[in-house]
Amino acid sequence: MNEIIEPLISEEEISKRIKEIAKEIMCDFTQGKITLICVLKGGVFFMVDLARSLEMQVEIDFMDVSSYGNSTVSSGQIKIDKDLENPITGKDVLLVEDIIDTGQTMVQILAHLRAQKPNTLKVCTLLDKPERRKVEGADFDYIGFTVPDEFVVGYGLDYAQKYRNLPYIGILRFE
Ligand code: PRP
Repeated sequence: MNEIIEPLISEEEISKRIKEIAKEIMCDFTQGKITLICVLKGGVFFMVDLARSLEMQVEIDFMDVSSYGNSTVSSGQIKIDKDLENPITGKDVLLVEDIIDTGQTMVQILAHLRAQKPNTLKVCTLLDKPERRKVEGADFDYIGFTVPDEFVVGYGLDYAQKYRNLPYIGILRFE
């Protein structure tokens, strides 16, 4: 079967939306300093472009997580493979994700981060796929685009580790 990518969100649309989101963030984070936390790997592309649009002091840190145990049992529990390098206690933090799907990753990462008592903790996701939500509490403050329940790739999002480097977002189809 061939893999076909049907364009969904163009490079220009992504770039324009990121600048708009950056303005909102700069209005809200008035302390002039922000810590961006990126969840590897998908969120990297978005976080880098967002960081470059923020006219303020930006620190970055990374987390990596994976699903716990047997993938056939959907416990929804995640395992932290890489935690933050620096403590976020008292800091103004923005968690940056590429997509919220079931919401399980977001809910658990938020609980983990809240325990460190940051001064502010907000969430920015490039994409939201609300039709797939399984849990409550995966709330976000800033969003790029709402997407349908399709397999989306590009701009960080992969299929079997491919297509992350596409500059646009598309729907993967098999023909
Ligand atoms: C994706 C995405 C989120 C998570 C969302 O990561 O980056 O972290 O899934 O899914 P959920 O809402 O159902 O929990 P993935 O596990 O594919 O890893 P990757 O970013 O390294 O591709």
